[in-house]
Amino acid sequence: MAKKKTASPRARGESSPSSDVQLASAEVRYAQELEFLRAIDDAARPPGWMLSPVRVVDFICGTRGEAARAPASVKLPAGLPKSLVIATKFVGSRALVERCVVTLAGERGLMLVGQPGTAKSMLGELLAVAISGSSGLTVQGTAGASEDHMRYGWNYSMLLDRGPRPEALVPSPVLTAMREGKLVRIEELTRCLPEVQDGLISLLSERRLMIPELDGEEGSVFARPGFNIVATANLRDRGVSEMSAALKRRFNFETVHPIADPQQEIELVRSRAVSVLSETGLTAELDARLLELLVTTFRDLRDGNTSEGWSVERPASVMSTAEAVTIAAAIARQGAFFPAQRDPISLLPGHLLGVVLKDNVEDRERLLAYWDGPVRRRSENDAHWKRMYELRNVLEESPTGP
Ligand SMILES: Nc1ncnc2c1ncn2[C@@H]1O[C@H](COP(=O)(O)OP(=O)(O)OP(=O)(O)O)[C@@H](O)[C@H]1O
Ligand SMILES: [Mg+2]
Repeated sequence: MAKKKTASPRARGESSPSSDVQLASAEVRYAQELEFLRAIDDAARPPGWMLSPVRVVDFICGTRGEAARAPASVKLPAGLPKSLVIATKFVGSRALVERCVVTLAGERGLMLVGQPGTAKSMLGELLAVAISGSSGLTVQGTAGASEDHMRYGWNYSMLLDRGPRPEALVPSPVLTAMREGKLVRIEELTRCLPEVQDGLISLLSERRLMIPELDGEEGSVFARPGFNIVATANLRDRGVSEMSAALKRRFNFETVHPIADPQQEIELVRSRAVSVLSETGLTAELDARLLELLVTTFRDLRDGNTSEGWSVERPASVMSTAEAVTIAAAIARQGAFFPAQRDPISLLPGHLLGVVLKDNVEDRERLLAYWDGPVRRRSENDAHWKRMYELRNVLEESPTGP
């Protein structure tokens, strides 16, 4: 549980590039690792890339606890450590990340699909940072996104005043990425209208964007080496089935699955919750049993069965790792803000309801059935599950009631 509060760098009045924002970008958070990997990287890089494919994968998946070192031929700039253990950021298959990297060095875009909260966006951000040095070129796909978001728009006052000219052009992140030879991320591509999505077809195959309003060379932008697209799509929302076949052919699809190993998921939830809390100036130790109960409950409700082989009715809500991180951090924060609160497990059912009860009233019944099944059975042999079972009444009360 959260034990004590320490002053954050922000509270101490220190200024660092990340101290005045709630969540710094990956390039800021991992600046040292990126600088180090670039310095030691003597392997061939695809044109326009900041790191070689092997080092991109090292950055994302980590170096398995071993320190990366500079080869004898490389002289490190002053100020950089001689060796560095690169942290695991994406917990998942290294082979999947390697395939993503291979795709991005080729002529197709990369489409990351999967259930919500499986780290698709995070993976896209890490790929962009490792390959292009920045993750800021991003289009957020929404139902209201127009062609301008994918291609270009105009500064209309300048356009009316002086006619179409390069200065009046407002480039989209896609156009900027083409000009600079960088990766552009398109989040939730399938939420955009099909005609807006299809604006990417010619761009991906010809690697060129025509601007008919401008004359001569300025009327066509050729993508520089290094340009490519990383898109994400959520299988719960508007499906990829609505993407046109022509656009699908221009992407390689990779499915990002929830974390397979329970221990890895517990460790990720712990470490992410700790860092979420430290970003707000709280130093927290998370109770190991709480984490185990939380992650086991999430996995059972997500998978529809337990490790003992009991079946579980799945709620309509998404039981993602990202939601588990949020609950772990919220319980630790509650313990830090209200020190009289000594039993973190007693807070779990209430927070669980907050995740499960979103838009389907039957989900409360499903949660109660989980309590009457697996939780009750486990309570017969385990004191912590017994404590969970005793909290069943929390699930019955209306969270909005008196
Ligand atoms: N396999 C994983 N490795 C590392 N972190 C993970 C993993 N799965 C989930 N997370 C955690 O979940 C958070 C949310 O992930 P992210 O927002 O990238 O998911 P997403 O798949 O894009 O979700 P959505 O479909 O809702 O947009 C991450 O910041 C991380 O803390
Ligand atoms: Mg996302």
